[in-house]
Amino acid sequence: MSQPAAPRHFLDIWRLDAGALRAILDDAKTRKAARRGWPQGRPDKDAPAAGRTLAMIFELNSTRTRFSFDAAIRQLGGRGIISTSADMQLGRDESVEDTARILSRMVDAVMLRAADHATLEALAAAAGVPVINGLTNRSHPCQIMADLMTFEEHRGSLAGKTFAWVGDGNNVLASYIHASAKLGFKLTVACPAGYRPRSDDLARAEREGAAVVVTEDTAEAVRGAHCVVTDTWVSMGDLDHDARLAAFAPYQVDEALMDLAAPDAVFLHCLPAHRGEEVTAQVIDGPRSLVWEAAENRIHAQKSILAWCFGAVG
Ligand code: CP
Ligand code: NVA
Repeated sequence: MSQPAAPRHFLDIWRLDAGALRAILDDAKTRKAARRGWPQGRPDKDAPAAGRTLAMIFELNSTRTRFSFDAAIRQLGGRGIISTSADMQLGRDESVEDTARILSRMVDAVMLRAADHATLEALAAAAGVPVINGLTNRSHPCQIMADLMTFEEHRGSLAGKTFAWVGDGNNVLASYIHASAKLGFKLTVACPAGYRPRSDDLARAEREGAAVVVTEDTAEAVRGAHCVVTDTWVSMGDLDHDARLAAFAPYQVDEALMDLAAPDAVFLHCLPAHRGEEVTAQVIDGPRSLVWEAAENRIHAQKSILAWCFGAVG
């Protein structure tokens, strides 16, 4: 397998075409099925990343992204190197561009979790190898690929389905908006006036024909939805903790709200969760919750994202 001439970056869902996204989701399901019951560390039979190394850089905390990417590259037959940016010269004063040039001569792909989306863009612009977005303040595309894979496994095709987002118009929602336009599901958003999603994300989705509705009314957003999604009210880097808790108090996902959704509606949350804030324990730990399945699917979806970056998928 040879790497494509121009690096295949996985920076945001809106930059990819629907065919590539579909190929990644389908490959993830195939790979997951083919290794059912295997030890986590055994490589897939085709080992499409054999001989390849993935660098994983974290400016911000992580549990799922850190372990799932490391497990993913191992299952593809490759190896990972993990570092916080604070342990690198990047955390002092070396530029992200010079970091990209150096790493491109040492590894085959770079995953970055960055506080500022501009850092990710700068890394990708200067890198000669694929760069993957492991979350920024703007988006979290790997999470949404795992979420959509999970939904499809349990409820089938996304076509004609409605996802309802309740809470903060944050990075995770942004990637849902991007995916809604690409993959053709409806998205309804309930959020307080001061915490709406970015207008450029909404405008792009509208241009691409997506049906994204934004309201302040949780019942309006959730009624009839096939999937209800929320996230923390205070993301990494948010400084207005008390103001947020006050603004979001009416936006908790509880059983009464879930009861307004479709009878077989499922619940998703990227985690980490705050029971008693954005979601009740009854919902996240209840029968409609698919949060643990989605967390596991971070490995499967990211394996196929890596395989796509290496030219082995799509
Ligand atoms: N959902 C998610 O990305 O979790 P981590 O912050 O633990 O990586
Ligand atoms: N919106 C959250 C997601 C964490 C995985 C954050 O950015 O902190």
